[in-house]
Amino acid sequence: MRGLAGKVAVVTGAAGGIGAATVRRLAEEGAHVVAVDLDDDGLRATIDGLPTEAIRVRADVSTEDGVAAYLEAAIERFGRVDLHHLNAGIPGSFATLPDLTAAEFDRVMAVNVRGVFLGARAAFQRYAAQGGGGSIVITGSIGSLRGSADLLAYQTSKHAVLGILRGAAMYGGPLGVRVNAVAPGIVPTELFAGSPDVAGGRDDMSRRASSTPLRRAGTGDEVAGVVAFLFSDDAAYMTGEVVSVDGGASIVSTVRPSGGAGAWDFPAYDRALYGERPGVPPAG
Ligand SMILES: NC(=O)c1ccc[n+]([C@@H]2O[C@H](COP(=O)([O-])OP(=O)(O)OC[C@H]3O[C@@H](n4cnc5c(N)ncnc54)[C@H](O)[C@@H]3O)[C@@H](O)[C@H]2O)c1
Repeated sequence: MRGLAGKVAVVTGAAGGIGAATVRRLAEEGAHVVAVDLDDDGLRATIDGLPTEAIRVRADVSTEDGVAAYLEAAIERFGRVDLHHLNAGIPGSFATLPDLTAAEFDRVMAVNVRGVFLGARAAFQRYAAQGGGGSIVITGSIGSLRGSADLLAYQTSKHAVLGILRGAAMYGGPLGVRVNAVAPGIVPTELFAGSPDVAGGRDDMSRRASSTPLRRAGTGDEVAGVVAFLFSDDAAYMTGEVVSVDGGASIVSTVRPSGGAGAWDFPAYDRALYGERPGVPPAG
């Protein structure tokens, strides 16, 4: 990808999952990396053996002090920052609306929305101090685009970051700052590790992934490739975009059985549509 070599990238939520994959991918493209997370052991593993220079910063993205700390560390080490992947996030509780506490709602909003706001604000301040340029990619979610009856705080937060995305892209356009988002679907990571056995939780993910057009879950690397593309000069004319990286999940029509509605018996569904056609992988 063009234009990434020699750039300095901040990646939040970099201790594992999508963030760690982005760190690896940007480093492979020649960027230096500032890896940010609360989990220092995870960060250590993420930056171990990268082909470019990298530092790790233990910081809480939901606080102004945390954001200032990772920016200061970046400037001290590299003298500038060119790219910000604002990716740290938490899922919050599976409680349905009547049972969701205000404290839990606030906790999710603090990391997923306040953290992105603070990170974007700091990025713009930094880019201005450097004389312009720069780029931001926010990690949204299919939950930015669609509704479900659980994960209400999470969905609210992921819708909210699209407001930050569009406002920041409008403001940043004339300054030469591009702001885009990725919207992953199902990517088995530690995100739902705390909820292994609830419907929609970790153990249920691969079954649900079989209902996507690509019939499988995605990987952190597959999201990271799109993040790197959005940062690269190959995406020079893209800003304000939300790019789904979800195996097609968000295009499914839920009002047609052939679109997936209620079609939980995927082997039967695939047999009916495709027969025994070679090349169609077994569902489920
Ligand atoms: N995995 C999926 O299926 C999926 C789908 C859609 C969107 N996403 C989004 O992708 C992003 C990355 O998630 P992931 O799937 O890689 O999960 P993950 O749990 O592996 O990564 C999230 C990281 O954020 C860090 N983090 C949490 N709170 C933080 C804070 N206050 N300050 C600093 N770091 C903090 C965690 O320690 C963790 O390392 C999240 O924004 C998530 O909402 C994930």
